[in-house]
Amino acid sequence: MSKNEPKRKLWGGRFSEATHVAVEIFNSSVGFDQRLYRYDILGSQAHAQMLAKVGVLTEDECSSICQGLDQILLDIEAGEFEWSIALEDVHMNIEAKLTEKIGIAGKKLHTGRSRNDQVATDIRLYLRDEIDNLMMQLDRLKNGLLDLAEKEADTIMPGFTHLQVAQPVTFGHHLLAWYEMLKRDGLRMRDCRQRVNRMPLGAAALAGTTYPIDRAYTASLLGFDGLCENSLDAVSDRDFAIEFCSSAAIIMMHLSRFSEELIIWSSAQFNFIELPDRFCTGSSIMPQKKNPDIPELVRGKTGRVNGDLIALLTIMKGQPLAYNKDNQEDKEPLFDAVDTVKMSVSIFADMVPVIMANKKNMKKAALQGFSTATDLADYLVRKGLAFRDAHEVVGQAVRYGVEQNKDLSELSLAELQKFSADIEQDVITVLSLEGSVAARDHIGGTAPSQVRAAIARERAL
Ligand code: ARG
Repeated sequence: MSKNEPKRKLWGGRFSEATHVAVEIFNSSVGFDQRLYRYDILGSQAHAQMLAKVGVLTEDECSSICQGLDQILLDIEAGEFEWSIALEDVHMNIEAKLTEKIGIAGKKLHTGRSRNDQVATDIRLYLRDEIDNLMMQLDRLKNGLLDLAEKEADTIMPGFTHLQVAQPVTFGHHLLAWYEMLKRDGLRMRDCRQRVNRMPLGAAALAGTTYPIDRAYTASLLGFDGLCENSLDAVSDRDFAIEFCSSAAIIMMHLSRFSEELIIWSSAQFNFIELPDRFCTGSSIMPQKKNPDIPELVRGKTGRVNGDLIALLTIMKGQPLAYNKDNQEDKEPLFDAVDTVKMSVSIFADMVPVIMANKKNMKKAALQGFSTATDLADYLVRKGLAFRDAHEVVGQAVRYGVEQNKDLSELSLAELQKFSADIEQDVITVLSLEGSVAARDHIGGTAPSQVRAAIARERAL
């Protein structure tokens, strides 16, 4: 980027002295908003075509503008465009270059438009694309979860509440819980996209414009689903970016919980899963270490996205209508949230299908902690006891098990019968892990058959 050589300001007419050097740097956004260049060019081309359609520009002027902008796009992508801080932002850099290239027609591009509706349009076009990219990564991750859940439909592990062993579940079922969270995240993003995909152009600075513009035509060229219907709101609204960040923060919160479990489970103490070496790193001092850095980083990056959301909310709070320069501060948090959530989802999509389950350890852990105690209580209820009485009986059996250092499934029939005469031979299957999970055989239950049915339902969608 060229530094601060005095450039004539596109708005310089009423000014009698040059901008203070520090102000020039402080005021400029081109260092970060240049990432919008493609959308700025698309928006300008559509605007020029609309101006030609309504007779404000000639066809010749329009085609020279569009070709000049095509050339600028190529220059930027070839790394041959020199961005200037003195030209403030992406919009004025491109417009000044256009005029340099094509002359007077370039100066007509900004007719009936302001940077206020221009920047709002650019961000919406950018965010629409990024939502689509993110949704693709989310789908990849969701499909990976379905595949892994299918592979692990019969794998038994302890289910936890309060991080204490509660009841046996299938690993496939647990994976489908993560799937459900991501499914809601996808729906939230899709919903957010509808409000992103509205066009501000035509609002101009704040009040609309005196030219006979055809907003619907510009919107159709840019693939917008509709218009922002009030010009003041069009230039000042950043709800769409806040909504995106809030949905992104929920995705990160989900990935963070997911990460937390992966981290705990890959510890030597749990040893439920193993992550392939290519998703882990070592320690520079402890040769034996294999650390789950990816989930740890994702858990850490959740804080950034929460911060981005809070930054946007705070930037907007207290702004009077309509556009204020505060809004220039919307871009860095938004870009950061987009980059972070996209990268996190994408790396999870790569990693999840290759999570390896240590089935033996999962099962061993499920056999500890009396995970089938509720099954025994339910069994006694089926034999005629009231649930509270059954709960009491099983509590005594558990106390006995603790003393004997044996799980319920390790007690003999004779031992069990000491606690209730209703206990018979058929209790053996009930107390087995396989029997326990298979018995939870309804929609949403942990039975392997239900896991397979849920996977089939999701794949059919
Ligand atoms: N760089 C500005 C932004 O990002 C563009 C709009 C500036 N508008 C203005 N009236 N100064 O918000």
